Amino acid sequence: MTYSRILGTGSYLPERVVTNADLEKIVDTTADWILERTGIEKRHLAADGETCCDLAEAAARRALDAAGIRAADLDLIIVATTTPDQAFPSTACLLQQRLDVHGCPAFDVQAVCAGFVYAMSVADKFIRTGSAKRALVVGAETFSRLLDWNDRATCVLFGDGAGAVVLEASDEPGIISAHIHADGAYKDLLQVPAGIGNAQTGSPYVEMKGNEVFRFAVTTLGRIVEETLEANGMSKSDVDWLIPHQANIRIIQATARKLGLPMERVVVTVGEHGNTSSASIPLAFDQAVRDGRIQRGERLLMEAFGGGFTWGSVLVRY
Ligand code: ACO
Repeated sequence: MTYSRILGTGSYLPERVVTNADLEKIVDTTADWILERTGIEKRHLAADGETCCDLAEAAARRALDAAGIRAADLDLIIVATTTPDQAFPSTACLLQQRLDVHGCPAFDVQAVCAGFVYAMSVADKFIRTGSAKRALVVGAETFSRLLDWNDRATCVLFGDGAGAVVLEASDEPGIISAHIHADGAYKDLLQVPAGIGNAQTGSPYVEMKGNEVFRFAVTTLGRIVEETLEANGMSKSDVDWLIPHQANIRIIQATARKLGLPMERVVVTVGEHGNTSSASIPLAFDQAVRDGRIQRGERLLMEAFGGGFTWGSVLVRY
């Protein structure tokens, strides 16, 4: 049996930091409202001209360094993003060129905030079936470019950043299991209406019925946690760390309660990063690896919920 083992992690945040107090000056909000309702204190925003691929490249190079392999050793590149630099080539192809890798498959996965768990699930299948031996999986977003900075209900929630992992084929897990789902019935609750097909007519900004999305997210994430444990015959106490998508501290706390995990065993970055969509899990993961919290051999549960709706989880023995 072949599994995907995590060789190394990396992440990158743009230099510019915008605090809640900064946002008070541009929209009708208060720093306290943002902190109390979301747990967010600040977020990083890409500089003018700084693109998703720039962030992805910085995170990818750090992950390759941590993994101790050369980019040329990769035989699969997947980038999860909702904010690609161009309609095409994909951000993964742009990244492949930056890394001077030629010939291996490279493609983007678009599942909004669940993008990273989707991309991990796809990469894991490539490795398990013998189609790839060393995969780079990146979650990268310049989500700030999708925000209406006059809409207080959305602009205070998001940030930019990127995170990456290098996976390698191994006889031992690695990724124990990955579970992904979608239901396209909820477009009206969370969307960016504009795209290539209706660039002139649709709004280019995030529209969200936050309260309804919140309720869905809490219920659905509770279910995905149960599904993941049941699929592996595990109990709650088998999970050492929860690495959740970082949308809102209250959603994270609800999932931690469901798992019976104290918040000390949950990696929380929402306060410093805001919601960085597909980048949030690999950013949190890399931070907890680098500061020594997460140790080799521990069991990690990653979970996410996002636009689509899409949702999923990845259970890993690190
Ligand atoms: N500052 C001050 N007041 C605000 C702000 C703000 N920034 N934003 C909204 N309000 C007001 C609203 O207008 C409303 O006022 P009203 O009662 O007079 O109408 C009041 O605050 C309450 O609004 P709610 O939307 O009910 O607030 P809620 O407690 O639900 O918090 C939030 C909003 C933070 C958006 C929350 O609903 C949430 O986190 N939702 C889930 C987001 C999520 O997980 N999205 C999925 C991933 S994102 C992706 O995939 C792109």
